[in-house]
Amino acid sequence: MREKNVSAQILDGSATAAAIREDLAAQVKELTAGGKRAPGLAVVLVGDDPASHIYVKNKVNACKKTGIQSWLFQFPADATPSAVLSKLHELNEDNSVDGILVQLPLPKHIDTEEVLEAISPEKDADGLHCLNVGLLATGKAGPRPCTPLGVIRLLERYGVDPNGQTAVVIGRSNLVGKPVALMLLEKNATVTMCHSKSKNLDQIARGADILVVAAGRPQMVTASWIKPGAVVIDVGIHRATNDKGESKIVGDVEFDGAAQVASKITPVPGGVGPMTIAMLLSNTVQNYRKRMNVRETSPALK
Ligand code: GUN
Repeated sequence: MREKNVSAQILDGSATAAAIREDLAAQVKELTAGGKRAPGLAVVLVGDDPASHIYVKNKVNACKKTGIQSWLFQFPADATPSAVLSKLHELNEDNSVDGILVQLPLPKHIDTEEVLEAISPEKDADGLHCLNVGLLATGKAGPRPCTPLGVIRLLERYGVDPNGQTAVVIGRSNLVGKPVALMLLEKNATVTMCHSKSKNLDQIARGADILVVAAGRPQMVTASWIKPGAVVIDVGIHRATNDKGESKIVGDVEFDGAAQVASKITPVPGGVGPMTIAMLLSNTVQNYRKRMNVRETSPALK
């Protein structure tokens, strides 16, 4: 897909995610054909962050469309840590639940690590439990964090092989930066991780064949940071207001300029975002298969 005034190929996350969801829906249909229960995902949301509410709604709706059962548990912003932890203990014991996701960020008075570690590792739909992070770090199978996995699947879909390529990751969060760097390393890229304290960031970025931007800063990366022909993956999503007071959604990359230099680029919205949700569904189905001891019969999209 090419757009006006864009020389780069658009990495269409919406279309790729739709194909993955369709494949997962077919898998769920097959898995439940003999009267077995459907895979189930429990989503826990604490507080009233408007963006989190939208993300969670999209996740629950995607489950519905795929035939995955879902439950949403909402807690007020002043919920006690023990209220959230006791819900997680309950979900760990519930046999109809295959995946548990706690939407991040959590309110400041709640210890994120403590909450993530309270999720049973085999029900971790997000791959963020330290045991699953350890499996990723040591190259063993396990649920992978959804956004990084979505990035890797999108690269695969568009025939981008990281093997031997120089990859630069901007951002070192546990949610995206660190795991995506490990996953690119697993695919034999030469990986550099950058962060807010990195010097000469633009210069380092310009060395990248594959540039993954998860900095959380609107339009931080401009065309001059990009090596001609690079593949650019924009993980950011922000609402910005232009000079005319119009509101629009932007990423961490200044898209119009970057798309003139890159060979392939993800749009925002419609790039990495929909892939994150598709990978959440995929992890839930994978957890279900493991828990129910049902192996995959076809080499389906995962
Ligand atoms: N907040 C933003 N992205 C994510 C995600 O992938 N998982 C969770 N749990 N929270 C998020």
